Amino acid sequence: MTDTNSLTMDKPVEHSLLDNGAQHVIGKGLDRIDGPKKVTGTATYGAEFHPDNCAQGFLVRAPFACGKLTGIHSDAAKAMPGVIDVIVDTDRFARNPAQGGETEAPKQGVSKVAYFGEPLALVVAETFEQARDAAQAVTFDFVPEPGRYDFDKYRDQTDIPADGAAPAQHSQGDLEQAMRDAEVVIDEVWTTPSQNSAAMEPHVTVAHWDGDTLTVHGSYQMVAYQQQSLADALGLKREQVHMISPYVGGGFGSKLGISSECIAAAIAAKQTGRPVKVVMTRQNVFDATVRRSNTHQRIRLAADREGRLSGIGHDTITSNLDGEDFFEPAGLATHFLYGGENREVNHAIVRLNRVLSGSMRAPGEAAGMLALECAMDELAEKLGIDPIELRKRNDPDKDPEKGVPYSSRKLTQCLDEGATKFGWDKRNPKPAAVREGEWLIGIGMAAAARPNMVMPGQARVSLTPEGRAVVQTDMTDIGTGTYTILAQIAGELLGLPIDRVDVELGDSDNPPGPGSGGSWGAGSSGSTVYLACETLREKIAKAMGCDVGDLTLKDGQAIAANRSVELGSLVGDGLSAIGKIEPGETGENTNQAGYGAHFAEVAVNVTTGEVRLRRMLGVFAAGRILNEKTARSQCLGGMTFGIGAALTEELVHDGNNGKLVNRDLAEYHLPVNADVPQLEVMFLEERDPYANPLQAKGIGELGISGAGAAVANAIYNATGKRVRDYPLTLDKLL
Ligand code: MOS
Repeated sequence: MTDTNSLTMDKPVEHSLLDNGAQHVIGKGLDRIDGPKKVTGTATYGAEFHPDNCAQGFLVRAPFACGKLTGIHSDAAKAMPGVIDVIVDTDRFARNPAQGGETEAPKQGVSKVAYFGEPLALVVAETFEQARDAAQAVTFDFVPEPGRYDFDKYRDQTDIPADGAAPAQHSQGDLEQAMRDAEVVIDEVWTTPSQNSAAMEPHVTVAHWDGDTLTVHGSYQMVAYQQQSLADALGLKREQVHMISPYVGGGFGSKLGISSECIAAAIAAKQTGRPVKVVMTRQNVFDATVRRSNTHQRIRLAADREGRLSGIGHDTITSNLDGEDFFEPAGLATHFLYGGENREVNHAIVRLNRVLSGSMRAPGEAAGMLALECAMDELAEKLGIDPIELRKRNDPDKDPEKGVPYSSRKLTQCLDEGATKFGWDKRNPKPAAVREGEWLIGIGMAAAARPNMVMPGQARVSLTPEGRAVVQTDMTDIGTGTYTILAQIAGELLGLPIDRVDVELGDSDNPPGPGSGGSWGAGSSGSTVYLACETLREKIAKAMGCDVGDLTLKDGQAIAANRSVELGSLVGDGLSAIGKIEPGETGENTNQAGYGAHFAEVAVNVTTGEVRLRRMLGVFAAGRILNEKTARSQCLGGMTFGIGAALTEELVHDGNNGKLVNRDLAEYHLPVNADVPQLEVMFLEERDPYANPLQAKGIGELGISGAGAAVANAIYNATGKRVRDYPLTLDKLL
């Protein structure tokens, strides 16, 4: 029997075992243990699984935007070289299962097409090229219907969605009255465009059947959840699906749910009796997975002359397909970042015939803080108060909506330390006042905030007679460093150098982990390893005949009193324990979030309007930092996403049919090296006992929160121009 150590986070964990580990590897900026495999090409990604006799699939997608599908003609395609079959299953291919909590099969399809490029069929051939070629020969009969493509045209026809990551609607006090009574107000609208996660690795599934058991290799962020989704979509039991995803080349939310390639590969493999691989092209990823919704955000701030907020409003309109509940929760941080007794935070959805909108890195803050943190900058300027000082004056001592305390909150310290390090005192608060030749120079800042969450999960940790530890969970490493931090936690708690810890991830045969999403991955999966190790420590103490408190585990030795024993010799045939974490009352009776501050310096060309980001600093407090290097990399990536949101990234939808105009990396402008200067990241020392036994909070998405707003505020300081329509491209700055 493997013992299970379960913890529900009902109470703070005041004493973390990580504090008295003898290995001293926690927090260290160790290189990724999977790094050598990645750079030598031996880390196997989804598309690199090559089962014998594998056929290749290519998705056929709707060449029209909205209407009834009345016929599909595939005979010509079937007659083409190498083609094995054309699988038509509009019910099940058509839509990604909705993301973020649901495990239903795709709802739509049913011969009704809802967006341009919706997957309808799969051509299966001997080679990828043959399948792609034949896909062009599949034709459709359809009866077009009028679609809804123009966001602004339908902006006053909205639905109120069900609550998501944040409540869809929150109202307290009387904001209208507060706005009338205020000495100074801000009431402006910001807009952000649709975006695509654009992970380096496209979506992929390789499916094969063994009797009634389906195995899929692919690129997935949340194995247990997606395993269930796939089983539901195919009418299988969860145990009939074996899902494997050891390495993921980025997901950023786009791989939280299974996509059409996964269902299509599974069905095609069944029907053809062969393994089938479906790799999305870059255009498939853009057209037919998920986008971040465009947003229209009205921010209202009501303040007195000293800058104290009496009211705050954040009304967001997003877009999604009919019947989909996901909304971009742009008001997420507005719920708790600043005080003010009169509050409105609302979200509404416009129904449009555009590709499904879903989670993309920091769903909510990534878009919302582009508005809120610029509104705060506008308020500071109107009041003649320094923007950092304005934020400090509105730093509440408890959650302004729920009245619960913050579990930990070092916003003020982040602002102050960042200001010192960046040289904020050298900023000229007067806009357009600093010029170097043909460049206007400006400095701006913004706050960062992102809620911390615990997701339920499990891991098994085993000690072998050889004195090694093996960590097993279906948790994923989406480039974030999961392999490394789990090895650090197990190594620290079991007294093993981390080269004696093996970490096995991304396999649904392992205990179900929390998956990688919502910045909960490290905290939640790290806790499962912690809890398993806690039990193993007790077992080792028992074998040593000592109290666990008197046990020291170091360099593969168990040490108690005067005895030092090889760990491997204490475990018999091997010892295993399962750690299990669940969210609990600390998630309700405290407000848990990570905080930070972003600083940016830009140069804007007076002739061309071109923006050059010169330098940027992010200062973050997110509880215990588990690995300084991987944490820093997360923040660098987040800040880079922020730069993209501020300056370059925009999905353009054709106004006539919703079709994406720029559906590849040549036309969708991700910031590249030339756009990104030296970025600096700094962490403040913090522990959060309410978060989890590691006392660590999520960090993945904190880096993006507010980053783009700091750039926008710097552009205002440089030019005196407030552009509230992202991205801030040169044409808007002239
Ligand atoms: Mo994240 S957008 O929850 O992968």
